[in-house]
Amino acid sequence: MKNLISIEDLTFDQIKYIITYTKKLENDNDKNELNLSMNNKILGCLFYEPSTRTRCSFESAMYKLGGNVININSSSSSVKKGESLEDTIKTLGIYCDGIILRHPKENLSQCTNICNIPIINAGDGIGEHPTQALLDLYTINEELNLLSYQKINIVLVGDLKNSRTIHSLVKVLCFYKKVEFIFVSPDQLKMPNNIIKYIIKNNIKYYNLSLEEAIKISDVLYVTRIQKERFDTEELYEQVKDSYIINKKKMLLAKKKMIIMHPFPRNNELSTDLDDDSRSAYFKQMKNGVHVRMSILNMLINKDYK
Ligand code: NCD
Repeated sequence: MKNLISIEDLTFDQIKYIITYTKKLENDNDKNELNLSMNNKILGCLFYEPSTRTRCSFESAMYKLGGNVININSSSSSVKKGESLEDTIKTLGIYCDGIILRHPKENLSQCTNICNIPIINAGDGIGEHPTQALLDLYTINEELNLLSYQKINIVLVGDLKNSRTIHSLVKVLCFYKKVEFIFVSPDQLKMPNNIIKYIIKNNIKYYNLSLEEAIKISDVLYVTRIQKERFDTEELYEQVKDSYIINKKKMLLAKKKMIIMHPFPRNNELSTDLDDDSRSAYFKQMKNGVHVRMSILNMLINKDYK
């Protein structure tokens, strides 16, 4: 595997390897007994859309591995002078050992032919966000132990149409045959057909429920922001913006053993009154992101995969 553009680039063995390696890194607790090193390696972070967690956790991961980072922001680089994505990637291919790329355009696989260094998709429009899905999977497994379930109800709430984190999460969870997906979304923001087809191809059960019904049975309640920037007009966004709000009161309906997840940033859909609820796993997701991304960088840049 040279690049990570989609979850479909990974085999189940590679996914399990990332999970196992991440656990080792977590246990290692920055002592570097695994002797991982990115000494003299440079990571290029190329973001054409805003980012806080993805960029910072990749940077943090690279620094923890002893490597260096170059940040290129589309609003302050030659992109502003009209430079093409191709030329920008070619340039980074000369200076760096790996590229983290976030772009509003879907399907970045054409970019992988432009340079010889690995490209990691950090979100391509409404397409995918594979590294977020891997940290989400790691978090679910850590908090609930996937293997201990006969059946696990994964409830996906909000903007199922535009949420790239959900598209990748669905794909990665399709490797686990015990999952069932429950969708909660406004009509305008339903799960895209290509993802539904993927679920069917993998023989996984899925259905729609109201928010209240879904909360009651959820083992994982994965909440997403309505993606304002993907709407044609402000008016269309206003029609759906506060469709679902998860708060302390609503969570009285939920099981005692379950987790609430969110890729962040959040708007109104997830109330801060849940932040100290023991079922809230979203800050753990952020924390796990660093170790998961250390594993991914090691696999792709150090070519460490047996
Ligand atoms: C998400 C993204 O950019 O897709 N954030 C993230 O990377 N953690 C979610 C979002 O923007 O709503």
